[in-house]
Amino acid sequence: MKPYLLDLFVASARTRTRTPGWVIRWYLSIFEPPLGKTLRLDMVKALLRQSKCDLKGKRALDVGCGIGDLAFTLAARGAKVTGVELDAGKVESANQIAHKWNFPQENLQFLVGDVTKLDQMNLGLFDAIFCVALLEHIQDDVALLEQIQHLLCPGGFFILEVPSATRKTIPEVEAEDGHVRPGYFFEEVPALLSRTGFHLVATRTMDSLGLRYRWCASSRVLPGRTARGQLFAVFAPVFIPLIRLTSMLVKRPGAELCFLAVKERVLDTSPSTGG
Ligand SMILES: C[S@@+](CC[C@H](N)C(=O)[O-])C[C@H]1O[C@@H](n2cnc3c(N)ncnc32)[C@H](O)[C@@H]1O
Repeated sequence: MKPYLLDLFVASARTRTRTPGWVIRWYLSIFEPPLGKTLRLDMVKALLRQSKCDLKGKRALDVGCGIGDLAFTLAARGAKVTGVELDAGKVESANQIAHKWNFPQENLQFLVGDVTKLDQMNLGLFDAIFCVALLEHIQDDVALLEQIQHLLCPGGFFILEVPSATRKTIPEVEAEDGHVRPGYFFEEVPALLSRTGFHLVATRTMDSLGLRYRWCASSRVLPGRTARGQLFAVFAPVFIPLIRLTSMLVKRPGAELCFLAVKERVLDTSPSTGG
């Protein structure tokens, strides 16, 4: 793992667990991050590969960037990336790590901001926008998609990743995650994208057998957040490859959905003058 990603994950884990930093570092030097996002990023990277998107010198926006690992990955591929995130702690940590690893600010910057007000942030236009594991947190999802569409250059592309509404969930985990809806139906997303001015180009889906739910549920046999997190990490090296394998073998919409779309048209949001 790249040293800046290691720093990001260690900093993030230390805010959530009492596990010593050196144990987290040791674990991450051997295994991948024991997180659902490890699988989500598989889909994002696969769509970038499939569509041969060259990010060199392109402006990219990571909407609701969390700890910033995707933004760092895009910046390392030559993109000029802005990450917007509500959590000031995550933004501060990501900016510190970017500085430590000599990412110039014009190539990688993290801003504290509410993505529902993206249009008030004077960010300019982007060649690529990423919205990963965020839309299910946003009450007015259509309004956010419209704002994203406005921020895309003509011909720019948009990657959207959401959980499936059909996946099995653990209610307490969902509540902790702050989702305002369980997810989206695979079949409904193309219409949602089309309605907000995008043209769907490609899709990816993972976890067709719902193994992430089993992974989460089996780690909950232990009491307490820290112990559960540790058991989740112990199971990760089994579940992550298993989910990858079953996602390749069983071709049907799974628990995680990912879409690549391009800007289709300029949305006309001016008030109607009819009558
Ligand atoms: C599940 S995390 C996903 C983070 C990242 N995209 C990833 O894939 O790891 C959702 C993130 O969205 C952020 N978030 C939620 N609502 C937001 C809002 N209105 N504006 C900006 N960020 C928001 C949360 O703070 C959280 O870091």
